Amino acid sequence: MALKLDPGTRLVVATHNPGKARELAEILEGRFELVTAGELGLDEPEETEASFTGNALLKARAAAQASGLVALADDSGLSVTALGGAPGIYSARWAGPGKDFYVAMDRVRTELKALGTADNSAWFTCALAVAWPDGPAVVVEGRIDGTLSFPPRGDRGFGYDPVFTPLGGDQTFGEMEPAIKDAMSHRARAFAQLKDALL
Ligand code: IMP
Repeated sequence: MALKLDPGTRLVVATHNPGKARELAEILEGRFELVTAGELGLDEPEETEASFTGNALLKARAAAQASGLVALADDSGLSVTALGGAPGIYSARWAGPGKDFYVAMDRVRTELKALGTADNSAWFTCALAVAWPDGPAVVVEGRIDGTLSFPPRGDRGFGYDPVFTPLGGDQTFGEMEPAIKDAMSHRARAFAQLKDALL
């Protein structure tokens, strides 16, 4: 069976994070009728897989099964080279129960300082998965490389945006015009692949 997504398909977006829902909606450009897992009152499954792609698939499959709709899910995070790829799939969890990303950014800063390393390279990854209620699924991954700098700068993004500057740039994602970030982000790159695969 060829997996294709027709324009106007009703899609459930399996995220409860408003920042990511806004970016996904912008990237999807009004192509689909979007409803979020939060709006449908779906439970958020526990992210038990060891990779971004595994967790994106797990979330898309859970939402497709619970809603009977085609589901789109993402899993994303920041990986720091000198920290062996941490926080990676634990990016959200480093913000603690208060979901305070200033706590998470400070942990990155403290761990880098403890290592005494000059390597401030990092990358964001976004895995996007689409799952159909009857079982098939597709998953892709996008990445953007950059550097970390402290203290955090800018209040326009979310998560780790204020400490991440993409390669070749001088503004952090937190300082950047949202449309400029959205055009180059790991999410945009993953979506470009999804488009090639499904549209
Ligand atoms: P999850 O995909 O819901 O598990 O969470 C991923 C976490 O990674 C988010 O809560 C953010 O903290 C971080 N993250 C992912 N994408 C971005 C981004 O574009 N900017 C800043 N932080 C991000």
